[in-house]
Amino acid sequence: MRIGIETLAFYTPHYFLDLRTLAEKRGVDVKKYYDGIGQEKMAVAAPDEDVVTMAANAAHHALEGIDRQSIGAVMFATESGIDQSKAAAIYVHSLLGLPKNCMSFEIKQACCGSTAALQMSLGFVAQNPKKKVLILASDVARYDLDSPGEATQGAGAAAMVVSVEPRILDLSPEWGTYTEDVMDFWRPNYREEALVDGKYSIKVYLRALTEAWREYQQESGRDFDDHDYYCYHLPFNKMSRKAHLHLARLTHHDDIPDEELLSQIEEGLSYSRVTGNSYTASLYLGLMSLLETSRCDLTGKRIGLFSYGSGCMAAFFSGVVLPGYRKHLQTERHRRMLCEREELDFARYEDFYLHHLPTDGSDYETPKHETGLYRLAGIKDHKRIYEFSGAAVDRSSTETISGLQKNSVAAA
Ligand code: COA
Repeated sequence: MRIGIETLAFYTPHYFLDLRTLAEKRGVDVKKYYDGIGQEKMAVAAPDEDVVTMAANAAHHALEGIDRQSIGAVMFATESGIDQSKAAAIYVHSLLGLPKNCMSFEIKQACCGSTAALQMSLGFVAQNPKKKVLILASDVARYDLDSPGEATQGAGAAAMVVSVEPRILDLSPEWGTYTEDVMDFWRPNYREEALVDGKYSIKVYLRALTEAWREYQQESGRDFDDHDYYCYHLPFNKMSRKAHLHLARLTHHDDIPDEELLSQIEEGLSYSRVTGNSYTASLYLGLMSLLETSRCDLTGKRIGLFSYGSGCMAAFFSGVVLPGYRKHLQTERHRRMLCEREELDFARYEDFYLHHLPTDGSDYETPKHETGLYRLAGIKDHKRIYEFSGAAVDRSSTETISGLQKNSVAAA
């Protein structure tokens, strides 16, 4: 039985900050950002967006051409969760009108949660071949202002449908995995910003790559040159280069010129260079970037994928690109979404960053900004209220957003 990715879509907010603006403000040479870490722009979520709205926007497009009644599970990976108890998957399930006979739940393990979902979906569709799994990966990467992590922020969501009718990527069954208890990056419940020891994280990432690769190689019998392209988890683009050169050295392929090695990863970096980190979505944004921006026909090419989630867990796996994959991609829509974004000046970036939803239980109407098809309309009676195309829906009752009171103090 062939199992793999049938559809793939992403969403990134309408607003971005050019890292040149950040560099000027922070007194840093812009080359450090553009070249040193390989990032040019970072997406900034509007105050009326959260992981649910971003995921719903991506999922809306991933479900085009899919019979919604066939969705048997919604697996939502995030490390920017909005509730300690209720899964973000249920909000998206509701917004998209998915069938009642469906499992909907949330998965967490830093940036690797989406890959855990993907792994789990393989077993689910093998047991239920008539059903499909909707995987959502959605995050806002957020660090303290004026910290080393600030330039590696970003936001976005990826959505994919996994089934026994893959049209884009046929996933191979061999996986290499790795777990180690480390404190390289974490976010305690009382903080909105992640804590990170960036240099240490790079070391652990490479160690996890070594170990996951070894198991993958043992399981699959494949070597480095059995893969045509590689996609790595992207906390910042330069990490992909470090990882790929590391893997080439590890497998004794470092006699290959750097230029040739880097051509195996470069096309996978175009999207994240201008969106920044999107944590759980980042690897899959990289995969879309490779498939959608490559000038070559990738049919039959094997792609190696490495997922890393701090803390840490990692996985190495691979897939083969299927004939006709291009017509199932959303290349033009994605390009348009990226091109039509609006640049923020530094003051607006700070305003967006400093916007907080009330934490004292008061009702709140969210200021309206440019978003995708779904937005967070506000909070009422401690419940988040989401909106599609101007029609507010409170899922716990039939009330609409018009019942909300504006809370300008909380918005400040
Ligand atoms: N021109 C070109 N390159 C420059 C430069 C300049 N003027 N100044 C510095 N650089 C290069 C450095 O040489 C370095 O490259 P290298 O790593 O290849 O040696 C790179 O830019 C970064 O410089 P560094 O001094 O290490 O930056 P930093 O202390 O600000 O830290 C990160 C960078 C990426 C570690 C930091 O942004 C971070 O921790 N981000 C979060 C990452 C994360 O989320 N990790 C966890 C999940 S995997």
